[in-house]
Amino acid sequence: MLDVAAKGFTVILARSKKSIFVADGSSILYTLRKQGVDVPFNCGTGRCGVCEAAVLSGIPDHRDHVLSDAEKASNQSMMICCSGSLTSELELDL
Ligand code: FES
Repeated sequence: MLDVAAKGFTVILARSKKSIFVADGSSILYTLRKQGVDVPFNCGTGRCGVCEAAVLSGIPDHRDHVLSDAEKASNQSMMICCSGSLTSELELDL
């Protein structure tokens, strides 16, 4: 279901089985690190690709400059430093 998550969204971390709410205006990367989840990053602006995470379910709101248009359309991965979610839940392989 596509439901623009204007008031934030929940990220489900499949490997650690955690659910973390990302408030509107915050980034997934910032929120996860604030909650003690150690995820790699470098630029923080969607340009290096270090923070790429595989998407298991949900639809990302891609805002990076790394993935091609075709890669973005496939919704198989996303840059968690700058991209958001178009669905209320986003499950990542983290
Ligand atoms: S940290 Fe560089 S693209 Fe996310």
